[in-house]
Amino acid sequence: MRLPQLEDLPDPAGRRLLVRTDFNVPMADGVITDDLRIRLPIETLTWLLDRGAAHLTVCTHLGRPKGHPDPRYDLAPVRARLQELLAAAGADTGRVTLAENLRFDPGEEADDPAFVARLVEGQELYVDDAFGAAHRAHASIVGPPRTLPSAAGRVLAREVAVLDRLLHDPKRPFVAVLGGSKVSDKLGVLRALIEKVDTLVVGGGMCFTFLAAQGHRTGASLLEPDQVGACAELLASGRRILLPGDLTVLSPGGTFGPGCPATGEVRQVGPDVPDGWMGLDIGPGSAADFADVIEETATVFWNGPMGVFEDPRFSAGTRAVAEAVAASPAFTVVGGGDSASALAAFGLADRVDHLSTGGGASLELIEKGDLPGLAALREAAARTGSAAR
Ligand code: 3PG
Ligand code: MG
Repeated sequence: MRLPQLEDLPDPAGRRLLVRTDFNVPMADGVITDDLRIRLPIETLTWLLDRGAAHLTVCTHLGRPKGHPDPRYDLAPVRARLQELLAAAGADTGRVTLAENLRFDPGEEADDPAFVARLVEGQELYVDDAFGAAHRAHASIVGPPRTLPSAAGRVLAREVAVLDRLLHDPKRPFVAVLGGSKVSDKLGVLRALIEKVDTLVVGGGMCFTFLAAQGHRTGASLLEPDQVGACAELLASGRRILLPGDLTVLSPGGTFGPGCPATGEVRQVGPDVPDGWMGLDIGPGSAADFADVIEETATVFWNGPMGVFEDPRFSAGTRAVAEAVAASPAFTVVGGGDSASALAAFGLADRVDHLSTGGGASLELIEKGDLPGLAALREAAARTGSAAR
């Protein structure tokens, strides 16, 4: 996919730029728990500053504050971290400001022309480095490219190049490992991936709807009855789909989850789940099988945990997959969101070839082949005749 790059912009020297980043970082009690999304675009900001940009107005959303100021989504910790990282990179921090949380204004999500006009006022160029938000047709993403010369920053460009390669020219065999809770959320991605991969490995809550489609009993596990037909169709597609052959289950009445005590009996069964029991992780046999597949392939895409990994009783499957992805000689790409958090929790985040900063964005790019943010940049390039490459 050809996107206009930083080098395609008019010379930034002496100019004012609007830079959209995705600093929507995870926080706990006002403290940033993972600053990857702030660290990566520093490269783009210093590139622009080194070329003499007069000023960078950086803008981002944080959380989902619903169109009005909300102290829970105050950017102060993000602003402080950005300043630290810029200073550590030797950048002139005086030429960078971080604007207010975009979603404090209802105009952002509505792509309101008046809000776009305020964003671009006084700006001469636009850089989009917010891959994680490129699937949102919001004002700060699709608005500025309508009038300003525009380009992809380094993070956005790299993310798109990696996913492009994965989808159009993967080294084979190509294995996708999908987890997460719901089939209904991932049906489009499952259908797109099944056409591209040699093996699709399915774990997490969504494996139960597939197991039900094979006639297995799922007990009290997460099941989407209205998706059983869709899973049966995928299973009948003739492509290799690997499902767990064993499961880690919790006894009836057992409790788990944030703020809950860990009660009940935990057992390995499978692949049929006894009545009233709930499958919360893949079993050890499946974990070993999945790890073998991951270690013996040439390309891996992983998105979604294999179980409720936040609870140590149900983390073994996700850990086994994370370790196999980290150890695999294959080209390994991990989608953002929960799989990124899992990798970070196991200390393996720097052991994969590409850790995406966008969970939703990478899945939507796989499913649809394009994103509103990318289309906006290409349209800007076409309009201004800049050499898109
Ligand atoms: C994300 O974290 O998924 C991106 O920053 C997009 O956020 P959103 O899902 O609230 O639009
Ligand atoms: Mg999201």
